[in-house]
Amino acid sequence: MPSIRVEPLASHHNRAAFNCVDGDLGTYFKERATQDVRRKAAAVFVAVSPSDPDTILGYYTLSSFSLKLHDIPPEHRRRLAAYPDVGTTLLGRLAVDAAFRGQRIGEFLLLDALRRAAAIASEVATVAVVVDALASAEAFYMRYGFVRLSRDRFWIPIQTIQQLFPPESVSDPDAEGHSS
Ligand SMILES: CC(C)(COP(=O)(O)OP(=O)(O)OC[C@H]1O[C@@H](n2cnc3c(N)ncnc32)[C@H](O)[C@@H]1OP(=O)(O)O)[C@@H](O)C(=O)NCCC(=O)NCCS
Repeated sequence: MPSIRVEPLASHHNRAAFNCVDGDLGTYFKERATQDVRRKAAAVFVAVSPSDPDTILGYYTLSSFSLKLHDIPPEHRRRLAAYPDVGTTLLGRLAVDAAFRGQRIGEFLLLDALRRAAAIASEVATVAVVVDALASAEAFYMRYGFVRLSRDRFWIPIQTIQQLFPPESVSDPDAEGHSS
């Protein structure tokens, strides 16, 4: 995998050059991502190489999201029975530029998103990370511990993430930038 870092989307990043074979993920990124950031509808993070910091290798988005108590698995429902809705973090989109697929950038982005969600959870409680996966990407999420909640919706409980990333490793995801 090339050396990469993950940072918030900024105006110098070359969004127009981002090439995703999935039309919606590419169009969203080119046409709506900056608007979503401005409106606080989503936080958008991009992977770049330090040697070419304007070229976007991949991106993901995070937003606050809530699930109905009856939509979560019974073993988790019991603990949260006092609340009709539970707060989660939505990994709304995640995509790697077609030219850079198969180089573990998707994995790097996903782990970065989970690490970030675990860091946020100590400030604003969140019980899980949720993703609405394309059929072609379901197996990708399942290999990292996501469990199916409904037809195309998956989640990974925050406790599972915190076992992967203990609190001392998640205090400030932007402190050093993550690089491989
Ligand atoms: C799915 C996607 C993010 C994977 O990114 P990537 O950088 O190509 O994948 P990686 O190199 O990080 O793969 C890591 C591992 O996951 C596996 N993997 C990659 N894509 C996979 C998929 N679609 N299904 C199952 N496994 C997958 C790889 O084979 C690799 O496995 P290994 O550990 O056995 O070698 C990327 O292909 C993509 O952007 N696809 C289109 C958009 C999309 O489907 N996004 C998700 C929908 S919300």
